[in-house]
Amino acid sequence: MLPKRSLKYTGQYLLLFWIYFTHSIEARPDRETPEPVKRASYNGSSFSSRLEAYEYAYVSSWPVLDRKLGSVSAVDFDCTGNVVIFHRALHVWSLSSFDTENRFQNVKDGPIAHHTVLKFNRDTGQIIQEWGENLFYMPHGLTIDHEDNYWLTDVALHQVFKFDLKHSATEPMLALGQRFEPGNDMDHFCKPTSVAVLKNGDFFVADGYCNGRIVKYSPDGQPLLTWGRNSFILTRNFNLPPGPVPESFFAIPHALTMVPNRGLLCVADREQGRVQCFHTANGTFHSQYASPDIGSRLFSVKYVPTDGGLLYIINGPQFVINVKPVQGFIVEMNTGSVVGRFQPNNLHHAFENPHELAVTNDGLEVYVAELKPQMVHKFRRITGGSNMTLSTDAAREGGFLTGDHSAYSERSKYDQSKFGMSNSVLTAGSIGIFSIVSTLLVTSLLVILMARVICFRPANSGSRMDEVPLRNMGDA
Ligand SMILES: *[C@@H]1O[C@H](CO)[C@@H](O)[C@H](O)[C@H]1NC(C)=O
Ligand SMILES: *[C@@H]1O[C@H](CO)[C@@H](O)[C@H](O)[C@H]1NC(C)=O
Ligand SMILES: *[C@@H]1O[C@H](CO)[C@@H](O)[C@H](O)[C@H]1NC(C)=O
Repeated sequence: MLPKRSLKYTGQYLLLFWIYFTHSIEARPDRETPEPVKRASYNGSSFSSRLEAYEYAYVSSWPVLDRKLGSVSAVDFDCTGNVVIFHRALHVWSLSSFDTENRFQNVKDGPIAHHTVLKFNRDTGQIIQEWGENLFYMPHGLTIDHEDNYWLTDVALHQVFKFDLKHSATEPMLALGQRFEPGNDMDHFCKPTSVAVLKNGDFFVADGYCNGRIVKYSPDGQPLLTWGRNSFILTRNFNLPPGPVPESFFAIPHALTMVPNRGLLCVADREQGRVQCFHTANGTFHSQYASPDIGSRLFSVKYVPTDGGLLYIINGPQFVINVKPVQGFIVEMNTGSVVGRFQPNNLHHAFENPHELAVTNDGLEVYVAELKPQMVHKFRRITGGSNMTLSTDAAREGGFLTGDHSAYSERSKYDQSKFGMSNSVLTAGSIGIFSIVSTLLVTSLLVILMARVICFRPANSGSRMDEVPLRNMGDA
């Protein structure tokens, strides 16, 4: 009798621990998962497979800061290769920042008094220029074009600005949209997110959180073309047919990138977890990229021309049961395959809300702007790309190789049938609330059952209170 009963208790313990352990692993955010160093398929001379062909090391010594940053909403390079960020200083986008009509509620507090645009030396990480005080309320997008013009978007102002610093750092060359007035016509934006500029000076505005459209302009700011429709579940006012969300529907067009040699503009369709690419000439749909690995939220995308064309992508925290790690991905444009990943494998610098990224044209360096923790990250490529013989020894020493052990080979293929709503997005926030709640539930269940097993375990085997229901359950 006794051995049998102890066996049963042992079994209960094991079962409970198993449930708890597996559940909590699944529910934990990525930064707490074990970070074993993955050598990918690199065997010392060549890659036997394309998977994880690119690996990046985290450069924790960059930047060198003399101040606390606010939420960093964007990052880009200027024409000489310096890194420029756009940050919110003391302003925070909270639930009370806007009313239900998308009007900014804190106008009376005035613009951000600190410098919102900071330029860093790419190598040393030192701040070399700063400007943008008393202009912005809620910074979002930053794009520096081939003529060193700064294109900035402010979601509180509902405006898009073009600054030429040779002219002025306080007076924009161009201001589109109406100050603090949301709208959906050729004079108004609603929380515009991002700008991309063609070599001929035409530019595109992603507009934005509420309108779900892209607008193309001539260099002097005349609208030429507009396309796209808002399909964000929280703000759309029509029913989508079941199945994958059709092309040219956006649930927050959140970031833009040009693919000049293919004549494409690619859009991070944030809440639909995909990148959609369009012909820059006429706005017609060309192709889209998604992956179950990336998941249901995709915050930004940047094109790099090396190795046949690569898309660097960052996803975001997700609100589904099977949470995907928040990290960066490298996707081959030709095949749609994920060929690399990057993330700070470091508890102090883990990605939580990466918002925008910038990649050097040779793919050697990646910078990621993060809302919270409020910082900008730097990564340097250690393997992969055209020059594969970068120092793997250095990477091994540091132990900060990126990449993880999840099986993605089959799932990471470009697969149109998996686009869209297959991953249900619950809401726009920052933490997997579902995971936390379910972890708490399982934890309390564990505590209750353990207490029961330990406290009510009688010395006498005959009259156990919990034996009857347990046995009945077993027999049923
Ligand atoms: C690495 O893989 C390549 C291609 O599969 C092979 O030719 C080469 O011999 C391998 N090198 C080592 C060191 O195993
Ligand atoms: C749009 O432009 C592309 C490239 O110029 C062209 O291939 C495509 O047929 C055009 N689509 C329409 C509908 O005009
Ligand atoms: C590859 O290495 C060569 C020679 O070291 C260098 O000139 C070239 O810029 C490198 N290319 C990339 C993409 O790193």
